[in-house]
Amino acid sequence: MKVTIREVANYLDQEITIGAWLANKRSSGKIAFLQLRDGTGFIQGVVVKNEVPEEVFAKAKSITQESSLYVTATVRKDERSPLGYELAVKDIEIIHEATDYPITPKEHGTEFLMDHRHLWLRSRKQHAIMKIRNEIIRATYEFFNKEGFVKVDPPILTGSAPEGTTELFHTKYFDEDAYLSQSGQLYMEAAAMALGKVFSFGPTFRAEKSKTRKHLIEFWMIEPEMAFYTQEDNLRVQEEYVSFIVQSVLENCQLELNTLERDTSKLENIKAPFPRISYDDAIKLLHEKGFDDIEWGDDFGAPHETAIAESFDKPVFIMNYPVGIKPFYMQPHPDRDDVVLCADLIAPEGYGEIIGGSERIHDPELLKQRMEEHKLPAENYKWYLDLRKYGSVPHSGFGLGLERTVAWISGVDHIRETIPFPRLLNRLYP
Ligand code: 4AD
Ligand code: MG
Repeated sequence: MKVTIREVANYLDQEITIGAWLANKRSSGKIAFLQLRDGTGFIQGVVVKNEVPEEVFAKAKSITQESSLYVTATVRKDERSPLGYELAVKDIEIIHEATDYPITPKEHGTEFLMDHRHLWLRSRKQHAIMKIRNEIIRATYEFFNKEGFVKVDPPILTGSAPEGTTELFHTKYFDEDAYLSQSGQLYMEAAAMALGKVFSFGPTFRAEKSKTRKHLIEFWMIEPEMAFYTQEDNLRVQEEYVSFIVQSVLENCQLELNTLERDTSKLENIKAPFPRISYDDAIKLLHEKGFDDIEWGDDFGAPHETAIAESFDKPVFIMNYPVGIKPFYMQPHPDRDDVVLCADLIAPEGYGEIIGGSERIHDPELLKQRMEEHKLPAENYKWYLDLRKYGSVPHSGFGLGLERTVAWISGVDHIRETIPFPRLLNRLYP
């Protein structure tokens, strides 16, 4: 019976065959321990010299790391292993023998591992991170489907720049200029006017010359947009959504969180509601904490975000930023013209901003004025103004950066490990 490692629990004491790769191996004169992986999981295969034909034991002793195999074995309970099971190996068929696999169990430098990302993905830690990433994506679809949102796919090739014009990837679109999408938001606003509550999930691009542990050049964003929602309604969706994905990972990725040695006590209380602090109070808090350099009107850097987050044990919303440091489309505060109705959600433990969101301007005249102030070419945004011309309504939305969220929930230090093939300032290979 051909089964996967994920399914072995259903075959206790039965003989099965798995297709697998040899992740690692230990052996002595009488016994060999094979660490096997098949993509669905990792399991130990035990080969006892006295219990198998001579050539099977000889094979077990000589197989090289990352060779591909069919292993026939009996499933046994093993309380000490993370999976709870191991394989008593009966037979081994070598499909392909790998020679000199470059990633050995010894420590390797980061650049070496990044150059071998196509192979590094096979390792236990990277496997766990990719499974958690997958669970977050799965839970995202579950959450928005259960809340009545419709998935809409905005274009990647665009003629407009929602988040400012400095970080755009330029390309030719036949005879026209085009840009790779830095956010699908403007299109999602059009979709919300057609479908009410919508969300997108897709790649976005920022030609940002930042080399930090939080910045990718290509990253994936989830962008919900809701017609008739105020910023207050918007914050509620965000805290419910983030709570839902954290609790889903806790429920469905225990093994992976253990592999990563994630302190899950820090995730267990991530439940709505989340604390909120105004930008004004965040500045005061930073002054109390000794950050004398920051002034009202400045944007926060990573050390500021970390310092603010340290005062809370859940993600924290920083609300109502100065109009000057936010994009053109944000709705002004009803009582103040110096701040806008927006919030960034800052993750705990130094993982920084995971969400940016706001209420959008729905007054056509104000929007036009803001677009002129930001020197946006009117002809490219005519369609966006149309949304305010024909039945304009208050509406709000946000964007959650998938990779920063994976980094936080997995507890990994650097964003480069949260996406299969990271695009970084100086990396396009592999
Ligand atoms: O704050 P940002 O720029 O917001 C927007 O793009 C809005 N248009 C979203 C919306 O309202 N629909 O980006 C949103 C999130 C950030 O909070 C962060 O998590 C992530 O996207 N992000 C990045 N992640 C990795 N690398 C980068 N260079 C990122 N830039 C933003
Ligand atoms: Mg932002």
